[in-house]
Amino acid sequence: MLSTPVTPAVGSASTIVDVTPKQLDGYAKLIYEKIGVTISPQKTTLLSNRLRRRLRATGLATYDDYYKLLKNAAASDPEWEAFLQEVTTHETYLFRDQIHWDWLRDKFVPEIVAEQKAGKRQAKLRVWSAACSTGDEATTIACCLADRLPAMPAWQVEIVGTDVGAGAVAQAQQGAFRERAMRLVPKAYRQRFFDKGTDGACASLKSDYRKLLKFKPHNLLEPLAEQPFDLVVLKNVLIYFDAASKKRVLTQIKRVLRPGGYLITGAAEGVSDLVGEFESTQGWLHRWPGGK
Ligand SMILES: C[S@@+](CC[C@H](N)C(=O)[O-])C[C@H]1O[C@@H](n2cnc3c(N)ncnc32)[C@H](O)[C@@H]1O
Repeated sequence: MLSTPVTPAVGSASTIVDVTPKQLDGYAKLIYEKIGVTISPQKTTLLSNRLRRRLRATGLATYDDYYKLLKNAAASDPEWEAFLQEVTTHETYLFRDQIHWDWLRDKFVPEIVAEQKAGKRQAKLRVWSAACSTGDEATTIACCLADRLPAMPAWQVEIVGTDVGAGAVAQAQQGAFRERAMRLVPKAYRQRFFDKGTDGACASLKSDYRKLLKFKPHNLLEPLAEQPFDLVVLKNVLIYFDAASKKRVLTQIKRVLRPGGYLITGAAEGVSDLVGEFESTQGWLHRWPGGK
């Protein structure tokens, strides 16, 4: 691995250096083993830019020094969190992919309400927003359920949002969103579910709805210690995983879906070969067997 400094000294004529293929390989293995995300050679410059930010923050001079630091760091070392925050994509916004939220409001909610009226279920609903980033997806779910579940206080609703990034989870817990994240939120929903934001945020989820949400750090490769869910939403994350990691994630998800529960996946998640055990599966919607 390269051991010369990677950024030029002030006034120096030398250029910024990217990681070598060998270094990329070393970092890619670290990331893959930790969170299942694959890093291709096309990401060399991107990864190098992100790594240089951690070099500046830690005061280290070379990619090799930083690699050694991570290699020797305990899993709980905050540097791991800072590193993963740099190398993962957190892009998210409320009401991303309208089709999913139309289904949730127009098909899913009427179905569970009918089941409850027929005495087939209690007035309880549990949803998992897996890899939720800063909580925009979980907040969208809260708005849709609050809008469509009749006599919502009579229903016990819990929406669990998880992400491997503790920084993203901490932000999700704030329930505050910038204009860019809010741009697709219907006007009526803005007025009903959000207060005006403070400290640079444009909107803040009202406390009555925030209490439906629980956020916590979690790595999708590991089991989630939770009661079964009626619905799991897993979007825009498996696109970064290879087949073996996708399989590990889906194994964990099947364990926490209640019989008859649903899984929503993103359009480009590439799971069609891995959802064969689901009772019915079409595109982004998959139903776990049983429960009728
Ligand atoms: C692009 S965001 C998607 C957010 C949201 N699901 C959406 O569709 O808008 C991907 C998120 O996956 C998270 N992530 C990546 N690998 C993960 C893993 N192994 N376990 C949990 N979260 C992970 C990242 O931290 C990031 O916040």
